Amino acid sequence: MERTLVLVKPDGVQRGLIGEVIARFERRGLRLVAAKFMQVSKELAETHYAEHKGKVFYDGLITYIVSGPVMAMVWEGPKGIEAVRQTVGSTKPVEAAPGTIRHDFALEVGRNLIHASDKPETAEKEVALWFKKDELVEWKRAVDAWVFEK
Ligand code: RTP
Ligand code: MG
Repeated sequence: MERTLVLVKPDGVQRGLIGEVIARFERRGLRLVAAKFMQVSKELAETHYAEHKGKVFYDGLITYIVSGPVMAMVWEGPKGIEAVRQTVGSTKPVEAAPGTIRHDFALEVGRNLIHASDKPETAEKEVALWFKKDELVEWKRAVDAWVFEK
């Protein structure tokens, strides 16, 4: 079972797409672990996107991510990191596969609606950066045996 951080970015929140995003992950069978609606500070944005510091799009990216509230969530499932990235789609919305969130709701890389952790080390770091341990909910669903093989 893998946990991964998902952010509905400010454009997704402003456009009323929080419910749509949650519905897609729920329908996929992923299990929600934590959720928090929040205004991101510049400090948190800079820590979260530290790997992109110095790139041409960095300043715009920080401005974008603090431009309004985000919906931060942790989702889990077997191969959860890969599964969520697949449902999210490629970084550039015009390269994202039809049926993915970025394809279906976005056009530009700088307004691509959603963030998802890209690999296990990143996911672990990001979950710990955005959520305290006691905000992560361990629970079972009645339907788990019909979604998870083990
Ligand atoms: P994210 O971290 O937000 O889930 O996106 P990602 O892994 O698909 O893409 P990443 O390379 O980590 O880029 C982070 C975010 O920076 C913005 N970006 N703009 N103008 C550009 O060329 C450019 N490249 C990246 C996007 O908002 C991207 O999601
Ligand atoms: Mg990334």
